[in-house]
Amino acid sequence: MCGIIAYHGRRQAAPILVNGLRRLEYRGYDSAGLAIRGAAFDVRKRTGKVAELESSLPAKMPGTIGIAHTRWATHGGVTDENAHPHLGPEQRVAIVHNGIIENASRIRRHLERQGATFRSETDSEVIAHRLEQAVAKGQTPVDAMRTALKGLRGTWGICALFLDHDELVCARNGSPLVLGETEHGLIVTSDPQPLAEHTDRVIILEDGDIAAFGKGGLAIERLEGGQSGTSPITLEESWGEAELGDYPHYMLKEIYEQPDALRHCISGRLNAKTGNARLGGMHLTAKQLRKVPHVRLLGCGTALNAALIGQQLIERLARIPAVAHVSSEFRYQDPVVNPEALHFAVSQSGETMDTIAAIKEIQLKGGDVHGVVNVVGSTIARLCGQGVYMHSGPEQSVASTKAFSNMVAALTIFAMQIGRARQLSANEARVLAKGLQEVPDLIERYLADPGPIDDAVAMVLEAPSLLFLGRGLSANVAKEGALKVMELTYIPCLAYPAGEMKHGPIALLEEGRPVVVVAPDDAVKDKVASAIHECKARGARIILVCTEGDELAQEADVAIEVPRTHPLCSPLLTVLPLQLMAYRTALALDLDVDRPRNLAKSVTVE
Ligand code: M6R
Repeated sequence: MCGIIAYHGRRQAAPILVNGLRRLEYRGYDSAGLAIRGAAFDVRKRTGKVAELESSLPAKMPGTIGIAHTRWATHGGVTDENAHPHLGPEQRVAIVHNGIIENASRIRRHLERQGATFRSETDSEVIAHRLEQAVAKGQTPVDAMRTALKGLRGTWGICALFLDHDELVCARNGSPLVLGETEHGLIVTSDPQPLAEHTDRVIILEDGDIAAFGKGGLAIERLEGGQSGTSPITLEESWGEAELGDYPHYMLKEIYEQPDALRHCISGRLNAKTGNARLGGMHLTAKQLRKVPHVRLLGCGTALNAALIGQQLIERLARIPAVAHVSSEFRYQDPVVNPEALHFAVSQSGETMDTIAAIKEIQLKGGDVHGVVNVVGSTIARLCGQGVYMHSGPEQSVASTKAFSNMVAALTIFAMQIGRARQLSANEARVLAKGLQEVPDLIERYLADPGPIDDAVAMVLEAPSLLFLGRGLSANVAKEGALKVMELTYIPCLAYPAGEMKHGPIALLEEGRPVVVVAPDDAVKDKVASAIHECKARGARIILVCTEGDELAQEADVAIEVPRTHPLCSPLLTVLPLQLMAYRTALALDLDVDRPRNLAKSVTVE
């Protein structure tokens, strides 16, 4: 979603800002803009890609102080006027804002009654108006920010510049802002990625912080007054710029990075000789793990699908109840939280607002939450303060692929860790550990020759909608496949546990309708075979993902075979053809693979 980059220093601001905007593109956006502070603000903004903004800029935009933004529309359509930065009425203040001001309409009406006119439909513009009013009354930029934020409801990450003051002022409440002090000035961003090439020492603002940077250096205070408690940290894992290399799209690159990403996730956490598994960031002894009454997992989208797989693995290996929840529903169900239970928040970005809200609900009720997160230093990682990094490396494509695999792998390792502390025999654990360690090589082998994906794509392209079926762990792989195909191709996709098909979705079946079935060689395969027969009896055509050499392939119109693995590791193999199918179908439809319409990489609003 929206991204911010701001600069105050000795170098020319425009190149730093444009470069930063490029590094924020992966978050998803529909317009971009920047403002450079000179004798007046030079504001350039427009809908479309950062490259289009860049090519529309004058050869020179002199100035060493500026703010920039990528916008993902919430309040107001996708228009040039609604793009950020926004100026105050007299154009003496410029702001960029991430988040949502929930009571903006009321404030706007109030300002309009005082004679204000607005240039955009956004909620953000009210902040620029209020700020300008406050500095016009003689308040310092920091105090003006305090005044502007008073009575605002919602979330914000704001950077503001003032014509009459040589200061960059930032404020955070719910939308991250990261500050990097370099030898030539201060860079502020909404996630650490654009900072990586400048510094690995960063300060992450806490909710309620206001930071000001000017000639006197950097000062960070609390909204209500007093010093902030935040302090500089070193980013342990600096990702640098994720280059496409020879790949045409990030999604394809990330699919092919899965073997190495998995190796990083597994490395040092599994002992195939003893069958023991250990996630360092969990800080839980075997004694504590034995006492855990149940496990709850939270996630959205792909992270939820991984959590659903984790749920099954934990129950299976540790013999304790586990349940995965849709984060966005969690706090509205007024959940009963057992402080003794173990809670996991699963998130690639670590910034998903729905999951953050669920974590806060658990913490409010006395529970502890462990993060399973990719982005180091992200809000969820810091909010939880414990848990595991999944070490996928940067995932730039909106469609999550390698993060899914590493979420599943991290949760598999945890299931083994808690399993060994409870019922799981060393022998069973050794076999699974060996199986998991072999997976990266098996993925490499599969990706070298992925089978008849294009035949499947040809069937998908003709379909008005698609049904995905699977059972056991594969029911969740089917869900993940449906999500992937739907978000990339805009073809309506429905995923069901295969046994549920006859209770409703069977009504969709008709002559020639493709059904995607995920059926690796596991304990429930024969049951899935029955569902395949029921589909075929109604004229449906089957795209089957199955284990190499399995006779079930003969039942399919298109059979995509994946290497045999430990049945509990099968999601890591069976998901691959579905990722490729989604990718190639989107290509065939000439769609934007890495940035599907309407979607954002990190969903920072509720
Ligand atoms: O960053 P998160 O893992 O918390 O993101 C959760 C979902 O928004 C994300 O998985 C989304 O569903 C992806 N576009 C799926 O490909």
